[in-house]
Amino acid sequence: MNEVIKTIHGRRSVRAFKDKELKKEDLDAILECARYAPSAMNAQNWHFTAIRDSASIEKVNGWIVTEIKESRNPNLEGILERSNGKVFRNAPCLVVVSSEKADRFGVINASAATQNMLLAAHSLGIGSCWIGTVGILGTSKRADYYATELGIPKGYAPFFGVTLGYGASEGLEAPPRREGVVNII
Ligand SMILES: Cc1cc2nc3c(=O)[nH]c(=O)nc-3n(C[C@H](O)[C@H](O)[C@H](O)COP(=O)(O)O)c2cc1C
Repeated sequence: MNEVIKTIHGRRSVRAFKDKELKKEDLDAILECARYAPSAMNAQNWHFTAIRDSASIEKVNGWIVTEIKESRNPNLEGILERSNGKVFRNAPCLVVVSSEKADRFGVINASAATQNMLLAAHSLGIGSCWIGTVGILGTSKRADYYATELGIPKGYAPFFGVTLGYGASEGLEAPPRREGVVNII
């Protein structure tokens, strides 16, 4: 198997991290891979807010906890329960991925960039997880405040988070993959 295919197969969602800072050069390499994702009509209409300071990550976590509690959405409340109120699982680094709200491809472009980050991280021995609950910040009545605090450009909204850090558990198993999702004509 070539290295890229090995990386794709081996990447797992990591939800427990060592208390160890992410190297700045590794973060830079991961963010550069995000910028090299494909985008519809080459719009590149994404923005990445990388947060390495634990107090700031905790602040964003607090915003999400508040929004989920106010939402009274049982699915979201379940996420909060499963993560013990720590949606970023004490990761030492968080990247908030934003894109242009008015572009119907915006969230798709942001997704391509997000997947590039996950794969780049795994190739560097860094654990990661795609955090969809960050999107709640973009639809909140406080969305403008959050966007200003995170330095998100006007007209853009946060869609995802990517947690990054050194995984605390070895040998994570891939959840079983659905069968019957391919046909070749
Ligand atoms: C759009 C999207 C949103 C996700 N949001 C979360 C999340 O909020 N919290 C979380 O722990 N995992 C989240 N995940 C990770 C999935 O749970 C995970 O990819 C899936 O269980 C398969 O496991 P694997 O990534 O190890 O292959 C998300 C994944 C995607 C694609």
